[in-house]
Amino acid sequence: MTPADQALAAPLDDRDGVIWLDGEFVPWRAARLHVLSHGLHYGGSVFEGERAYDGQVFKLSEHSARLVASARRMGFELPWSATELDAATREAVALAGLAEGYVRPVAWRGSDTLRLVAPDNSVHVAIAAWPWPRIFTDGPRGIRLRTSRWRRPAPDTAPVTAKTAALYALGSLAGQEAEEAGCDDALLLDHRGRLAEATGANLFLVLDGALHTPPPDCVLDGITRRTVIALAHDLGLTVVERHLAPAELDRATEVFLTGTAYEVQPVTAVDDRRYPLGEVGAALAEAYARVVRGGAAVSDGGSSHAVTADDDRGTVADGGSSRTATADDDRAPAPRPGTPAPAPRPDTPAPAVVPGERG
Ligand SMILES: Cc1ncc(COP(=O)(O)O)c(C=O)c1O
Repeated sequence: MTPADQALAAPLDDRDGVIWLDGEFVPWRAARLHVLSHGLHYGGSVFEGERAYDGQVFKLSEHSARLVASARRMGFELPWSATELDAATREAVALAGLAEGYVRPVAWRGSDTLRLVAPDNSVHVAIAAWPWPRIFTDGPRGIRLRTSRWRRPAPDTAPVTAKTAALYALGSLAGQEAEEAGCDDALLLDHRGRLAEATGANLFLVLDGALHTPPPDCVLDGITRRTVIALAHDLGLTVVERHLAPAELDRATEVFLTGTAYEVQPVTAVDDRRYPLGEVGAALAEAYARVVRGGAAVSDGGSSHAVTADDDRGTVADGGSSRTATADDDRAPAPRPGTPAPAPRPDTPAPAVVPGERG
C-alpha cells in the first residue's frame, strides 16, 4: 500500500487536516458533535456530496443552494448563506491541497434539547474535503445492479426533494443487500413500482436511441442528471423524462447512472438482464469528463424539462424543440423485433467496490 492508499484507508475520524465547523477550521479529529444531537436521533440532518476536479468544485453553487433548500425542506434555516458556504468550501479544498477529491458539507440540528419538535435547536454546519478514489474500481467496465425491495417513498410520505439523512436509511439498506448479493449497487423502484434511481445516482435508459429518465418527482433532482441532460441535447440526442416501468429494462439497449460520485457510470447488469457498454453512455461520459474540468461549456439543462408529478406523459426535448410524449408507461412496450437481448457475460467478474461515499 502506498502512503496515499494508507491515508485513504484510515478511518474518517482519524485523519490529518482541518474541517470547517460552524465558521472556523478545526483540527480534523476535533470536528465532533454531541451524542444527543437531534440530527443523529431524528434525521434532522442534510448534506451534499461534491467533487473537486483540478482544485475546483464542479457546480459548487448548485450544491450549496441545494443544501440550503434541503434544510428549509426539513424545517430549519442554515446560519450561512449559499454564497458563504461556497467560500468556505473553496477554502476547505485549498487547505486540503486537493486537486481531485470529495467534499462533504453537512448540516444538522444540535443537542440543545432532545425534543422531536425542536425549532429552536442550534443548527451546525461542517465541510470536510479529502482525496478520494473512484467508488467502483472497475467502473469503466460497468457495474451490476440488483432491484431492491425498498422503494423511494411518495412525496406525501417523505420529503423526497431534500437530500436529508432521514431518507438515506433506505439507500443504505438497499445498498447493503445488493452488495451481500454480489452486486455493486441497488436499483430502487418508486412508490408506484416504477423505476426510480440507485442508492446515490439517477437512472438513464437508452430506448430506440433516445435517453429516458424518470422525472425528479420522488428521486433526487441530481445536479449531474441535469448536466447530462444538457450535454445530451448538445450532442443532438433526444431526452424523454417520464415514468418508466421496470419491464422497459428488457428492451433498453444501454443503461447508465449519473451522480457526482458516479459521474456517468455504465451499468452492465440489472438482475438477470445484461447490457453492453454502449456508445451513448460512452459519448456522454466523455463529454461529462470534459465539462467537469472546465474544458467545455454546457447549456443549462435544469429547467426546461419539468414534468408534473401526476403526469405520466413525458416531455421530450430534442435539440431545442420540445414536444410531449404520449407513451403510456404503465404498460411496458413490447420488445422491438430484431433487437437481440445482450448476451450474458458470465465470465465478467463483478467489479470491486472501494468503500466510499456515493451520495
Ligand atoms: C439518492 C441520490 N440520487 C441521485 C444522486 C445524484 O445527484 P447529484 O448528481 O446531484 O450528485 C445522489 C447523489 O447526490 C443521490 O444520493
